Amino acid sequence: MFNIYQTKAGAHARRIRMSEIHSFPGKKLPHPAPHAPRIFADTATITEIEPLFKAGIISGITTNPTLMKKAGAKSWNDALKISKNLLKLVHPNPVNLELTELTEKKMIEQAREIASWGDNVVIKVPVGGYPAIDQAFDPFTGLKVIRTLWEKDIKTNATLIFNSTQAFWAANAGATFISPFLGRLADYAYKNDHPERTPGNSLYWIEDHKDPHSDQNLFNTEYVASGGPRKDIGARLIQEISAIFTNYDIHSEILAASIRNFAQLSELLLAGADILTVPAHVLRRVPDHPLTTQGMAAFFDDSKAFDEKIAPIPL
Ligand code: E4P
Repeated sequence: MFNIYQTKAGAHARRIRMSEIHSFPGKKLPHPAPHAPRIFADTATITEIEPLFKAGIISGITTNPTLMKKAGAKSWNDALKISKNLLKLVHPNPVNLELTELTEKKMIEQAREIASWGDNVVIKVPVGGYPAIDQAFDPFTGLKVIRTLWEKDIKTNATLIFNSTQAFWAANAGATFISPFLGRLADYAYKNDHPERTPGNSLYWIEDHKDPHSDQNLFNTEYVASGGPRKDIGARLIQEISAIFTNYDIHSEILAASIRNFAQLSELLLAGADILTVPAHVLRRVPDHPLTTQGMAAFFDDSKAFDEKIAPIPL
């Protein structure tokens, strides 16, 4: 279990320096959670999003090409239609839409087109991985695009973040949001869990992460959330980024992505995430707990005794 004593008071200070998320001018009763993290729906399926938005559970959306495909998009036109519906539904709250182009020039052109669909668009830019698609691609493509879009006043979300240095460089390039994928990191750590090895720097005890230019494992250079049980690696990554952003008063918001379950939601709140983007099936369970269900059934049973006694209140 993620150690709550590792949480940093500084993360709180950073949040109160950021803008309030609940602001109701003229309202007498102040909102008790003006600096609460925002919750986004991690889906492009409008039928999943609408009830969550209307219930006040979410205030934004994240999508990616995989989620667009799941939502039924078979062409760019389909993606455009879905995106425009999402932008309209939650306006003025943000909708994160991911670029599909892979070169700097085309990505900037595509970003400008997508940004013209609504003033609540956030452009998702993969932070790296370009040479894996084509060796000729510039490894700095993502960071350059983020920088250019910041110069053009277009909001960006640096996606596919797996360590705190990637998060720092994306923020330094001007990203509005930083998306660490804690679930995929945790999945990886689970799959490669070797109990015979001592915990710590867990991911990089794994042989397939050898530096191709030397015999050393990468555990010190490709630093990822070291220390503690390897299964907590995702939540610790968020905590690290939160500490780094606090150290330097960085206002890029930490958008914790790739969430798998309820335990991770609590861990992320403790770790200092600014936004949690959560799949609809996890969000639907937000009000539930087995003991809540049990307690509710008992209260309902006992309340039957008072059925006859309710005096109607005149309107
Ligand atoms: C959100 O911005 C991410 O694209 C998403 O959370 C990825 O989640 P996955 O690891 O479940 O695909």
